[in-house]
Amino acid sequence: MIRIAPSVLACDFSVLGAEAARMQDCGAEMLHLDVMDGMFVPNISFGAPVIRAIRDKSRAQFDVHLMICDPLRYIDDFRAAGADSITFHIEAAEAPKKVIDAIHAAGCRAAVSVKPGTPVETVYPFLQDLEMVLVMTVEPGFGGQAFLPQMCQKIAALRKECTERGLSTDIQVDGGINASTVREAAAAGANVFVAGSAVFRSADAAAVIAQLRTSAEEAYGTQL
Ligand code: DX5
Ligand code: ZN
Repeated sequence: MIRIAPSVLACDFSVLGAEAARMQDCGAEMLHLDVMDGMFVPNISFGAPVIRAIRDKSRAQFDVHLMICDPLRYIDDFRAAGADSITFHIEAAEAPKKVIDAIHAAGCRAAVSVKPGTPVETVYPFLQDLEMVLVMTVEPGFGGQAFLPQMCQKIAALRKECTERGLSTDIQVDGGINASTVREAAAAGANVFVAGSAVFRSADAAAVIAQLRTSAEEAYGTQL
């Protein structure tokens, strides 16, 4: 199933709750929440208390993307704040299976992410335990960067691996997704699309979300 997840990193933080509500009204079934600690990535964004503060503003799935060191320490905090799915970086976890188990024990969907320089094969040992894999299509840390088209090879390899194993794992892409790049990523086999700038820098967010969805549905899997 194709899903669109606006990233609030690009929204007006002075009215974060209203922006979360607006995204639901604009047709987004997920809200992407980028947590950055200034260590795993150079930037600092927000943490669990901020997510908790906007939880009741939207019924969308809260899709928490942890760009932090030692994610195991914080799983319960983010669940308590209202996360529905929690994504951590394979590069940040000494024992990824422990983190996945902690996410499931907390009652959330578990996802692992790979940075552009990390081979996607690093997640293969954990695939059967994951609801979603996030293939970063920019270096994590900042919104507004250009999509890295070479990442489509990773997406296609991952989709092939999942299909061969009979898994319908969600493949999410994050970074530089817009009306054009969404097609490339979907053609390669991605089905969950994070979009920050494309949605929030537009005068008509509902139209952008609808267009991203239509483009993704048309292109999904066509290059497999
Ligand atoms: C980057 C974040 C992304 C970011 C995407 O580290 O993980 O979610 O908000 O922003 P755009 O869509 O502007 O590239
Ligand atoms: Zn993100």
